[in-house]
Amino acid sequence: MACADTPKSTTAQRNVARVDFDQIHDRQQFGSVKWANQWDEFSPRVEGEDLLSLWTADMDFRAPEAVIARLREAADHGIYGYTRRDPRHYEIVQSWFARRHNWSPVLETLLPAPAIMPSVAAILRTFTKSGDGVIVQSPVYSPYFEVIQGNGRVLLTNRLRLQNNQYELDLEDFERLAASGAKAFLLCNPHNPAGRAWTQEELGALNDICERYGILVISDDIHCDIRLSDRPHIVFSCISDDAAEKSFICTAPTKTFNLAGVPSATISVANKKRRNELLVAMQASFMVNANFFGRLALEVAYSTGAPWLDQLTSYIASNIDLVCEFATEHLPGITPIRPDASFLVWLDARALDLKVGGIQKFFVNRAGVNLYDGRVYGPGGEGFIRLNVGCPRSLLLQGLERMSAALTISS
Ligand SMILES: Cc1ncc(COP(=O)(O)O)c(C=O)c1O
Repeated sequence: MACADTPKSTTAQRNVARVDFDQIHDRQQFGSVKWANQWDEFSPRVEGEDLLSLWTADMDFRAPEAVIARLREAADHGIYGYTRRDPRHYEIVQSWFARRHNWSPVLETLLPAPAIMPSVAAILRTFTKSGDGVIVQSPVYSPYFEVIQGNGRVLLTNRLRLQNNQYELDLEDFERLAASGAKAFLLCNPHNPAGRAWTQEELGALNDICERYGILVISDDIHCDIRLSDRPHIVFSCISDDAAEKSFICTAPTKTFNLAGVPSATISVANKKRRNELLVAMQASFMVNANFFGRLALEVAYSTGAPWLDQLTSYIASNIDLVCEFATEHLPGITPIRPDASFLVWLDARALDLKVGGIQKFFVNRAGVNLYDGRVYGPGGEGFIRLNVGCPRSLLLQGLERMSAALTISS
């Protein structure tokens, strides 16, 4: 697994047309989970008049124009038959990660996948047995609980520690769980919900424990591309040769370019035997056929989307600045945790949660703002809410103002 030492420039071209992220789009049509339904299979239904939706993790921005143009061309062709990825597809993935994250996965290690969570399920089913323990670090993206328990594995929760408004690892507890017979560790890198990018030292320490106890590492890197701090994204398999050997690196362009509805993903598996086994298992579940639109979206986004992503990143960074400044002045009792990556801000509202009888419900009912309830993210999530800032600034400001007004009235 080739991992370069020095970061390269992340910007392919700077002189591109300015993208208008301020434009508001009506997302009521086409069954948007975020706007039309405000619930999904895993989340409680949220209802209310004129709800401003700042919850589920997709963005209210159009994808890069080149992606839209290619998908439109494909849609106009009108024949949506079986599709395959050609070898260039994997070169595009490799080149993206080499340019953006100094990781150049060997082409033959790359497997096609429909999306991240089906891949995690396939890996768990192939390499662990019913009743085996799988470690996650909570608070964390809640479908991790479903994928582990829904596939008959045992959830082992290693709580992260919040120190000085930053999440830290609890390695002692992690080792205790590892020693209890865990077979796999589902790593969220960067971490959702708090957007923490794990450092080389932290990943190294996790890898040492996993190596000692023979634990496989499934790394979900879906949030790696929108980088907001000077912490680089470190791919787990770059830690060492043994980290590469034991890991499954799951990647997708869907968060980065807002393509969740046209998914396509890639898994890098350095260990040849496991790679072959996983491919056989995925073939047996008929998971490897390419989606007609998803394949194209990935290729065009990774090949041409870097300038768009750079503009998006600075827009998101300004939205996060807005949240932090606004909270200091107008949201007493709420402390945002600044993310290193992605478009989600984890708000510490523990000071208010009990007082208002549940902070998420309070904002839905009193402010007409739908945020994700921290409880969904498991132990350690109580009293927190997750705010999605992947939206036009005016909508974000409207949401923050509504939240502030609701707190003022109730105080
Ligand atoms: C950490 C994390 N992993 C996976 C997913 C979903 O990935 P996919 O839609 O490719 O299954 C999400 C979506 O919010 C996520 O936040």
